[in-house]
This record gives sequence, structure tokens and C-alpha cells, in this order.
Amino acid sequence: VNGADCPVCSVGEGEVRFPRRPLDAHKGDFGKCYILGGSVGYSGAPVLAAQAAVRSGAGLVTVGVPAPVWPVAAAKLEEAMPYPLPAGKEGQLSLEAGEAVHGRLDGCGVCLIGPGLGRGNGVSAVVRQLLREIHVPVVLDADGINALEGHIDVLDERKGLHTILTPHDGEFARLGGDLSGGDRLGEARRFAMEHGCCLVLKGHGTITAFPDGTAYVNTTGNPGMAKGGSGDVLSGIILSLLGQGMPARQAVPLAVWLHGAAGDLCAAEIGEYGMTPSDLVSALPRVIRTHM
Ligand code: APR
Ligand code: MG
Repeated sequence: VNGADCPVCSVGEGEVRFPRRPLDAHKGDFGKCYILGGSVGYSGAPVLAAQAAVRSGAGLVTVGVPAPVWPVAAAKLEEAMPYPLPAGKEGQLSLEAGEAVHGRLDGCGVCLIGPGLGRGNGVSAVVRQLLREIHVPVVLDADGINALEGHIDVLDERKGLHTILTPHDGEFARLGGDLSGGDRLGEARRFAMEHGCCLVLKGHGTITAFPDGTAYVNTTGNPGMAKGGSGDVLSGIILSLLGQGMPARQAVPLAVWLHGAAGDLCAAEIGEYGMTPSDLVSALPRVIRTHM
């Protein structure tokens, strides 16, 4: 998003401005966010998303992970609040997990489903059930998106509620997206309009498309971000800005811009080869600070 196009900008072209936090603010003013993710073998994904949410200003972040993953998440996360969910033998969520999610989701204004969840049948069924039941905005990433393969009706049923999907090309194809013609912008807009959702089609020049047909092409980011875990950081930032009460129309393209700007700062400081998704998380506060 370039300055003049960004609804959040309060100054001239090329500038992005984050709102100042009121002097008498308390954590409740900055949103309660919920993250559902993780499985044995993919314990890092929900951790990165949670750290990104905290580092971009979220007030409170609750993280539900399958029980075998919980000790890892708990050791890694000091500011977020990880708790264990019922799991099956494979270390993925079991069918009873849905109820345990609802227990803690209460009071959360926004929810992220998917980072590292895994693709077992049981997990996907839990995700689809939750999507039918949850009426706050949902950010759907990774295996949260994969759970909709062959079940796009579940997404259509959420029209009017805010659902933000953040697929890479492979995940988009599983949803029925067709990039064979090379028209990423057109296809992203078509999908968002048809399914009444916000679609973030990731990659170089990430596209953010809204149901009314408006779309943004992001200008930040670099190939140093082409590493496992970068996407998890993005989903955590989107969650955080939504949780802080920023309307989706502003929060989503701004989060995409911020994620890429953090990547560009890391590339300038340590180079594209060695920079990691954790470095993106660490860079977030400095990017935000220079755009207050
Ligand atoms: N230029 C700019 N941005 C880039 C570039 C690039 N060349 N390469 C990658 N990025 C950004 C993308 O725009 C996106 O925001 O990095 C992020 C990569 O996100 P994902 O493709 O979701 O990758 P990852 O985080 O590794 O996902 C981890 O979850 O989605 C599943 O199947 C996926 O197993 C994988 C896992
Ligand atoms: Mg991903």
C-alpha cells in the first residue's frame, strides 16, 4: 500500500501513520485475540503468530494448541497465554477440541485459525464447525484454509461476517482459485466478490481484495521472506490490528504493508539470506515506531 492509497495514513504520499495510543489506555482497549493452531511437528507456527500479534500492539493474546504442543508453546510465549486442547494420537486436535475452544474464545473480538494445525480429517471438521459457530471476525490461514477444500459453502455461509483468508498460491488453488491465466489481481478480486470475504493472496506483490471489488497491491517485502514461518507472522499481525479495532478495510492492507516493511528492514540490517521470521517479529516495533 502506498501512502496516498492507505486509509490509515494521516500525512502525505509515501507515509503510513499508526494511531497514537491514548495516555490513559489499558490492555482491554487493544483487543483480546484468540489463536488456534499447532500440531506435533508444527509447534512454531502458532508461536510466531502470537509473537507477531503481541509485537504489533495486541492487548491480550490467548493461544489454543493441542495438549502435546502446549509445553513448547508455554516455554516460548511469555506475553501470550497458551493453553492445552484435547488431542488425538497424532498430536493434532481431536473432535472434542471445539468445545474447549469456545470456553476461552468468549470475550475475544477476533480469532485466527490455522497456523500449523495439520490436515487430518478430524482437525478439518473441527475448523469447519468453528467457522459455523464463531460470529466474530476470523482470520483463516494455512490449514484453516485447507479445511475448506471441497467445503467452500462453509465460507459462503459466513458472508456478512468478516472472514479474512491469507492463502499462498497452493492454498488458493485448493479453494478453487485459478491462477493458470496469470491474472492474480483479477482472480483475487473475483474470489473476494464471489465469496464475500477478504482475500490476501500472498507472494511478491501480495494482493488484498475486498468483496466490493476494491483491491490493493502491496509494495513492501523481499525474497528474504521466502522462508517457512513468514506467513504465520503475517496472520498474527492482521489478527492484532483487527483486534485493536481497526476496520478490516484498513487493518488488512496495513498489516500486509507492515509485514513487508519489517522484512525490508531486516534485509537492510542483516541481509536476505540469514534473516528469519523471528527477525520479522523483532523488527515490527521499530517499523511501527518510525510510522507513528
Ligand atoms: N517477496 C515478498 N514477499 C514474500 C516473498 C517475496 N519474494 N516470498 C515470500 N514472501 C512473503 C509472502 O508474501 C507471505 O506473506 O512471505 C510470506 C510467506 O507465507 P507462506 O507462503 O504462508 O509461507 P510459510 O509461512 O512458510 O507457511 C508455512 O504453512 O501455509 C502453510 O503450506 C504452508 O507449510 C507452509 C507453512
Ligand atoms: Mg503459510
